[in-house]
Amino acid sequence: MKWFNSARFVEPGPAAHGASPDADPARPAVVFDHVGKVFGGANAALSDVTIDVARGEVFGIIGRSGAGKSTLLRLVNGLEKPTSGTVRVHGVDVGALDSRGLVALRRRIGMVFQHFNLLSAKTVYENIALPLKIAGVPKAAIDARVNALLDLVGLADRRDAWPARLSGGQKQRVGIARALVHEPDLLLCDEATSALDPETTRSILALLRDINRRLGVTIVLITHEMEVIRDVCDTVAVIERGELVETGPVWRVFGDPRHDATRALLHRPGDDLPEELAARLRPLGDAPADASRVLFDVRFTGERGDEPDLVALAHAFGAGSDDVRFVHGGIERIQGRPQGRLVVAATLADGAGAAALAHAARSHASRVEVLGHV
Ligand SMILES: Nc1ncnc2c1ncn2[C@@H]1O[C@H](COP(=O)(O)OP(=O)(O)OP(=O)(O)O)[C@@H](O)[C@H]1O
Ligand SMILES: [Mg+2]
Repeated sequence: MKWFNSARFVEPGPAAHGASPDADPARPAVVFDHVGKVFGGANAALSDVTIDVARGEVFGIIGRSGAGKSTLLRLVNGLEKPTSGTVRVHGVDVGALDSRGLVALRRRIGMVFQHFNLLSAKTVYENIALPLKIAGVPKAAIDARVNALLDLVGLADRRDAWPARLSGGQKQRVGIARALVHEPDLLLCDEATSALDPETTRSILALLRDINRRLGVTIVLITHEMEVIRDVCDTVAVIERGELVETGPVWRVFGDPRHDATRALLHRPGDDLPEELAARLRPLGDAPADASRVLFDVRFTGERGDEPDLVALAHAFGAGSDDVRFVHGGIERIQGRPQGRLVVAATLADGAGAAALAHAARSHASRVEVLGHV
């Protein structure tokens, strides 16, 4: 663990409570093994969820409100116990820990909340220092640690400020510093940026990414903001009505969402045709034989790893059309992989077929479909 240069504090070791930290780096940080959770209502909050969170990754969980995301996170630090299945953190079965074991486990897991949960009658310094004070860490060690954390989160100059005088982003930086006081291996973030404006969100995400990269801390975060997943996560899981419906590397899930729930969550304005085009779109069968403009949906899911080759596409479409236009769409990069869609309008040449053109274009894209004609 690349935790600052400070020596680790002498705290009661988790090993004494049967929660021995697992040193095998190949073992996942968190394993959800056929996890179910019923609160007593008719519907299970979680059913049969099996997920591995790899060490050192940023793992995102998305899903509609009430899908079970927070419950899933609370199982990790033992705030909830599974009704069925097991949750293991670094090899330790969380559900089997006694209260002392849970205290030890929670010191190895930081938690960041949407509403910061700062104590208003304590300064920035005191808020961060409090968990160390409770753990009986000597004053000088607390001082060194809190100052290092204030530097890390960029708040050294607000050390003695009251929470009420801080911006939302600064409050969340305090929340993050406090979550890191025990040098955790794992950081859980439940909607940590949901109360922040987009620019502040980006700066907090950059901080989380930095903590992940520099300190090797595994991060599991919940969000309803797709940009959060896109910008910082390595892997994403989609939860729908308590079930895991899709998981994979972010570029794959964003570039080629396979479940309806994922598509609904990822729905971006660019995925639709502009209204004016959509209104004029007709099925191909209704096309007049002459001079119809056919719309092709050319998709790049990221699995090819390269940018759209416009020359190759123009050649493919140009072989059967007199006029080829790029009418809508765009490309973005997720985890370095270009993905997106281009909507191409081609005026078919005499004797050319739309299906044959789509087929030819497929060698230069992930998918090509005929949308209709306009
Ligand atoms: N302590 C509890 N007692 C009873 N039911 C609960 C409890 N906690 C959660 N639930 C129920 O479990 C389901 C999942 O809730 P959860 O809070 O995990 O959803 P979520 O995905 O985090 O939603 P949101 O996006 O709104 O935060 C919901 O139906 C909720 O009402
Ligand atoms: Mg929640």
